[in-house]
Amino acid sequence: MRVLVTGGAGYIGSVATERLLGEGHEPVVLDSLINGHRGAVPEGAELVEGDLRDADRLRAVVSESRVEAVLHFAALTLVGESVEKPGDYFGVNVGGGHNLIEAMRLAGVDRLVFSSTAAVYGMPASLPIREDAATDPINPYGRSKLMVEQMLPWHAQAWGLKYACLRYFNVAGASSTRGEDHAPETHVIPVALLTLLGKREQFSVFGTDYPTEDGTAIRDYVHVLDLVDAHIAALTRLSTGDAPLGAINLGTRDGFSVRQVIEAVERVTGQTLPVSYGPRRAGDPPALVADASRAREVLGWEPSRSTLDDMVTSAWAWHRSRPDGYADR
Ligand SMILES: NC(=O)c1ccc[n+]([C@@H]2O[C@H](COP(=O)([O-])OP(=O)(O)OC[C@H]3O[C@@H](n4cnc5c(N)ncnc54)[C@H](O)[C@@H]3O)[C@@H](O)[C@H]2O)c1
Repeated sequence: MRVLVTGGAGYIGSVATERLLGEGHEPVVLDSLINGHRGAVPEGAELVEGDLRDADRLRAVVSESRVEAVLHFAALTLVGESVEKPGDYFGVNVGGGHNLIEAMRLAGVDRLVFSSTAAVYGMPASLPIREDAATDPINPYGRSKLMVEQMLPWHAQAWGLKYACLRYFNVAGASSTRGEDHAPETHVIPVALLTLLGKREQFSVFGTDYPTEDGTAIRDYVHVLDLVDAHIAALTRLSTGDAPLGAINLGTRDGFSVRQVIEAVERVTGQTLPVSYGPRRAGDPPALVADASRAREVLGWEPSRSTLDDMVTSAWAWHRSRPDGYADR
């Protein structure tokens, strides 16, 4: 199948592109390269440099590339930055999302897998979080993703768009050739590993007095390869069924605390992580874990690599082999 992968030069999109190629599909990557890397796009995948905000170009790319489906990873993704620059986030994530859906409609492309996020839930009232929990984002990033989610049922009704909104919790780990290279890096596991590689002075823990077993915040991590499995399963389901799949959480329900991540990092690397402890950050809930039973039921998804040690081991191999990432900045 020919598949458009927006954001295919980024972390998750490049691993998905690698997988599509491995399974005999023909991925076409569209990425502005604002946060992505030319070197992350696997050989064999076509790279089109383009911005989601350029509606005319997007229409031309979607129709001329003759794709049958879209994996939509491209977005601005930093929560803190979204609070400072909400216009950028609504412009790229919402405006760009709208442009993409319209380009798909005009080209008759009716299958979309959208990268959504646990940030749509805001501060959850109960755990684990189910897809039918209230959505109440507390930052423009989460709001921008929810706004795109909310457009989709109308398109399904009007012209038969089939879609899945995959709500990722925390994504971690690497394939054997591709991993995280964000600037700035804000994710816990790469930040810890980059500290051990001397790229940062110390690893900061924000909050040690949460109502969790060890006092640090708990998050639900999924190995990027397990996450990509879910995308392939969603593409298959959208290609064989008529109905939209709606929102689907991708997590494991087994949250890990920041202290557990530190322990895993030290265990896997055999090194001691220099850690500093500070107060909680505003807006950080004590725990965020997914009820992923819908992913199991609808997609037959069973994460098999999402143990903390597997994620840290694969990420450590990636960062050691590429201490400067794709080194194109
Ligand atoms: N990484 C996570 O833990 C996580 C968690 C929840 C949701 N997500 C979502 O998953 C998706 C991928 O995340 P990631 O970590 O791979 O991010 P990433 O920043 O590595 O990749 C995003 C890609 O989108 C591209 N892009 C940004 N603006 C663009 C524009 N206007 N036009 C075209 N391309 C543009 C960037 O250049 C980049 O290559 C995002 O939609 C993100 O919101 C990620």
